[in-house]
Amino acid sequence: MATAGQLELRPSYPIRTERLLLRPLTAGDTSALLAYRSRPEVCRYVPFEPMDRAGIAERLATYWAATAITDEKQGITLGVELAQTGELVGDVLLYWVSREHLGGEIGYVFHPDHAGHGYATEAARAMLRLGFEELGLHRITARVDERNGASAAVVRRLGMRQEARLVENEMFKGEWSTELDFAMLATEWPAHR
Ligand SMILES: CC(C)(COP(=O)(O)OP(=O)(O)OC[C@H]1O[C@@H](n2cnc3c(N)ncnc32)[C@H](O)[C@@H]1OP(=O)(O)O)[C@@H](O)C(=O)NCCC(=O)NCCS
Repeated sequence: MATAGQLELRPSYPIRTERLLLRPLTAGDTSALLAYRSRPEVCRYVPFEPMDRAGIAERLATYWAATAITDEKQGITLGVELAQTGELVGDVLLYWVSREHLGGEIGYVFHPDHAGHGYATEAARAMLRLGFEELGLHRITARVDERNGASAAVVRRLGMRQEARLVENEMFKGEWSTELDFAMLATEWPAHR
């Protein structure tokens, strides 16, 4: 648990949940990442285009190399493995948005072959726990395209509250996107952990 002023996140890996292991991504995950992050349907509502091997290598060497968060504007992206088989089924992000406001954001991308088991919800819940209990955040948000019903369902299952609906606020990949903003406060977390 973070104490006031400490404010950093250095998890011990792997992070274990009921069915999953969360741990930093490595070059050995390249093919597994490519298997879902190269798919147009997976990328439709996320702020990146379908990736190729070079794009994945570049991210592994930069953003995804982080294993700790020591200041705002930093995030950790963790691979999500099935504990029983070791298969990589997706990845989750915790991003520290603001030191002053103690705000963070979560994100998640999963392989469609592993949809429908609650893995994204379970992994995202682990990221909320890291954000609230270990980094010491006050508030964690998630921003979802309204057309992305599966993602809105994940954050609702987590117990995050919808606070805003920003009608056609962004031209996103050639179409107007209506953004749903969800949030949870640290004081609300114990009821949902
Ligand atoms: C968003 C995304 C992760 C949601 O995937 P998902 O499989 O629907 O989500 P979960 O893994 O939490 O699974 C939930 C489903 O499993 C079911 N389920 C089964 N066992 C469960 C359990 N133990 N716990 C929770 N849900 C469970 C739920 O009922 C739900 O089923 P439903 O879709 O029929 O309602 C996925 O669609 C995705 O990766 N999309 C592309 C990337 C993306 O858009 N990311 C979000 C950007 S904001």
